[in-house]
Amino acid sequence: MEKSAERIIEDLEEGLKYYSLLGVEFIELPSSSQETDYLSLKEQILNCQKCPLAQARKNAVPGEGDLETELMFVGEAPGRDEDIQGKPFVGRAGQLLTKIINAMHFQREEVYITNLIKCRPPDNRTPHADEIEKCKGYLLEQLEMIKPKVVVTLGKVASDFFVPNRLGMSALRGNFYEYGRIQVMPTFHPSYLVRNEPNKMLKKMVWEDMKKVMAFLGKK
Ligand code: URA
Repeated sequence: MEKSAERIIEDLEEGLKYYSLLGVEFIELPSSSQETDYLSLKEQILNCQKCPLAQARKNAVPGEGDLETELMFVGEAPGRDEDIQGKPFVGRAGQLLTKIINAMHFQREEVYITNLIKCRPPDNRTPHADEIEKCKGYLLEQLEMIKPKVVVTLGKVASDFFVPNRLGMSALRGNFYEYGRIQVMPTFHPSYLVRNEPNKMLKKMVWEDMKKVMAFLGKK
């Protein structure tokens, strides 16, 4: 016969009293299967040897943030600072991305940030098609685990992965595109904004794009 909810709670209380009499102060619960799957994926990325970028890297950069988030940002590939620290978007472009996220009324920790490929290409060159091909499974697994409602793709390389197209970023940005159940919003890469600092129009356009994301998520 199945136990009633009251009976389960009574039994739990009994059990906890018993442990407390024994002097036990904490009981560590097993982590959720999402967390376990995520940790194992992270481990795979950190040890990945699927392509030659593994030889030159200091650290692979899996990504970071809230696994329950509705909002994910996907860049191109780790740069120098990210390779050193093992974290995504921590250099100058990353600082700007953090400002953008905060302007959207999110903390950086409340969203998930990652890249299309997880290791730094030499001299920050554009990732090769075969590197993207070998690495893309990791991003696909992250999308499957986190199930964001919106992915903001930063720059042409990440945008092309979700929305294969012949358009330049100026034409592509600012519109939502469907990727399965995910709404994808391509926008300019923060590095492009940093490189073109005097061009205030670019920042304005990114902000227009982010306002659409906020409206979609009902974020005030
Ligand atoms: N540029 C990217 O595309 N990703 C990073 O993590 C940093 C810079």
